[in-house]
Amino acid sequence: MNYDAITNRHGLRHDPFKAIVAPRPIGWISSLDAEGRPNLAPYSFFNAVSDNPHIVMFSSSGWKDSVANVEATGEFVCNLATWNLREQMNQSSAPFGAGVSEFEATGLTPVASAAVKVPRVGEVPIALECRHLQTLHLTDLEGAETDRWMVLGQVVSIYIDDAVIRDGMIDVTDLRPLARLGYRDYSVVDAVFQMDRPKGGGGEASGA
Ligand SMILES: Cc1cc2nc3c(=O)[nH]c(=O)nc-3n(C[C@H](O)[C@H](O)[C@H](O)COP(=O)(O)O)c2cc1C
Repeated sequence: MNYDAITNRHGLRHDPFKAIVAPRPIGWISSLDAEGRPNLAPYSFFNAVSDNPHIVMFSSSGWKDSVANVEATGEFVCNLATWNLREQMNQSSAPFGAGVSEFEATGLTPVASAAVKVPRVGEVPIALECRHLQTLHLTDLEGAETDRWMVLGQVVSIYIDDAVIRDGMIDVTDLRPLARLGYRDYSVVDAVFQMDRPKGGGGEASGA
């Protein structure tokens, strides 16, 4: 099949787009509102977009609290959503009112970060502390404004639980990070394989 992705008449049961661009890592974004109240929500339109400097982004469908908070305070933290925290991660996406702490609602522990005022999730083994770079108001091919907002931040400090470091490396199969697929589907990273880079290969910086 082939279909026009602008009119999006795919004829399928659901829009397959998010099932196609998958797996997506989940940025579990903590932030503070202007009054200093903590907020926590998962974003799967999330990724690293640069490794030097370390830059990450998350994108919001609508002007949600996380975007408003980053705009207000200039900081956020990306907490790694892992298999053992899948229920809390999911619960934290519920539409709590602005100013209601998802930390309290889900029983998670806000722990002081090293370099930003925004707390990280105490139960997560890895967290990226970020300062806001810019928020892009996304436009479409016609130049029309969408209700989509992409927040970019530079990572200024990284927390790693020493227990997840083995031989100087992070054992990802032990961490079991969650990934979002389409529909109601998720995946978990619990198996890896290695490949050597071709000689002279450029582009993505060396993973080693
Ligand atoms: C796994 C998962 C991934 C999500 N990814 C996104 C996303 O990329 N963008 C978005 O706008 N909402 C996403 N959501 C929904 C938000 O988490 C939800 O709207 C939340 O209430 C937003 O919280 P906030 O207003 O405190 O930022 C996702 C939900 C889940 C469970």
